[in-house]
Amino acid sequence: MKPNDHVLIFDTTLRDGEQCPGASMNLRQKLEVARQLEKLGVDIIEAGFPCISDGDFEAVSTIARTLKNTRIAGLARCVENDVRQAAAAVAPAGDRGRIHTFLATSPLHREYKLKKTKEEVLDMAVRYVKMAASLVKDVEFSPEDASRTELDYLAQVIEAVIDAGATTVNIPDTVGFTTPVEYSNMIRYLIDHVSNIGKAVISVHCHNDIGLAVANSLAAVTAGARQVEGAINGIGERAGNAALEEVIMALTLRPEAFGFAPGSKVVGVNTREIVKTSRVVSRMSGMAVQRSKAIVGENAFAHSSGIHQHGILAKRETYEVINPADVGWGETELPLTKHSGRAAVKARLEKLGHELSDEELTQVFEHFKRVGDSKKFVYDDDLAALVNDSLDTHEGKWKMVLLQFTAGSSAKPTATVTLEKDGKSYTDCAIGNGPVNACFKAIDRITRTRGDLVDYVVRSTTAGQDALGEVSVKVQFGDDCKPVSGKGAASDVVEASARAYLNAVNRSIVLSERNACQ
Ligand code: KIV
Ligand code: ZN
Repeated sequence: MKPNDHVLIFDTTLRDGEQCPGASMNLRQKLEVARQLEKLGVDIIEAGFPCISDGDFEAVSTIARTLKNTRIAGLARCVENDVRQAAAAVAPAGDRGRIHTFLATSPLHREYKLKKTKEEVLDMAVRYVKMAASLVKDVEFSPEDASRTELDYLAQVIEAVIDAGATTVNIPDTVGFTTPVEYSNMIRYLIDHVSNIGKAVISVHCHNDIGLAVANSLAAVTAGARQVEGAINGIGERAGNAALEEVIMALTLRPEAFGFAPGSKVVGVNTREIVKTSRVVSRMSGMAVQRSKAIVGENAFAHSSGIHQHGILAKRETYEVINPADVGWGETELPLTKHSGRAAVKARLEKLGHELSDEELTQVFEHFKRVGDSKKFVYDDDLAALVNDSLDTHEGKWKMVLLQFTAGSSAKPTATVTLEKDGKSYTDCAIGNGPVNACFKAIDRITRTRGDLVDYVVRSTTAGQDALGEVSVKVQFGDDCKPVSGKGAASDVVEASARAYLNAVNRSIVLSERNACQ
């Protein structure tokens, strides 16, 4: 167990964060996020919910095998198959593997969801914590909806699961209902009423339904919690989880405000990796970061009023409580150009955290050269978008070879597309109500799919007229399936749109081969 002056950072971006509608990531994207989280130095990564799908199982076990320092947790309901699958998925991490098992304890959940009595819930919790403890050394238990559970019953459950082998007890505010004073009182109550509480780490897990997730987490730390769960950029179910970058910076900047010695280092995180981590998560999950978001938003350190600018120039601290460099702002390097060689691109990609195989590098480099021809500078963000686009496009079945389109105020928008599959190329053309629509229709004709566009977002990766356009789409293929997301990047937004659509087509093929309409 960590000393009492240390707060463990438990990152659930890849589990609770990924539950955010539209944020689902594939294996490569999850692995990239996990690698970056390890660089950031979080203590525990909850890599997924292994029993929920083969994909989740594979993601958790691949991350457990790949990372070398961080503890890896897999989520499990209090169900035998869940617990066993979680144990198998985290096994490659050896002693760094954790099973995080949960069961709802609140009256609402007991009566309407579980249809179980207090005694039955208590028995189940103990049974499955014991089972988890027989499979791994590190077991976390969460009484779901803890913040709406009767305090005396909550204390009884916590005491019993610690006796059964739980080494961390998490107190989730599942529906983002509690408030800082109420929540800190709850933590104090448990410290005072659970006789064996000293044998486990108290963890907190707050949702942001009324915007209090970070405040609640910090109030709980003041009361004695020593693990905080959350997600980078605050992504997650509904209004999201506690934004970890905010929790980390609050504890780093103001340890004395949360009961620690002034100037002490409370979290073991390399804060200079925060902005990069935020970008990686945003890019991999497709969830844009709000401009005014604390710490990581574009405007977090932008001063527009003359008075503020004058103050900052005279002394930075007049209007800035954090030095932007301390969280990783401003660490951009010279952009690459079309003259940059494969080695330079490889080196920059490694610096950005992308470890690619030779074959993957060839794909990205080809795309880089094409973009370099139409764009003076290729910035780090452009490069990250290219990786996402090049690798995702090739992950499925179809590869874009050629795209031509015409459009104008008096011309019928027409697109001609050539795609390649298994070494054979196919060309078709279509007319649409705009060039993007024409491209989608031509792709439909070749791939024999029929997608309905349900969401379309375009953003530029950097500033400037020659910035890359990055398009995210959600496409519905068939009435019974959930929409599939796709992303594409190119210096032309029509091409980026076509790439994003093809990415969604490829992902839907992979999904239907797995016989899963998600
Ligand atoms: O919000 C919640 O209660 C959860 C649990 C599984 C910890 O995510
Ligand atoms: Zn949650």
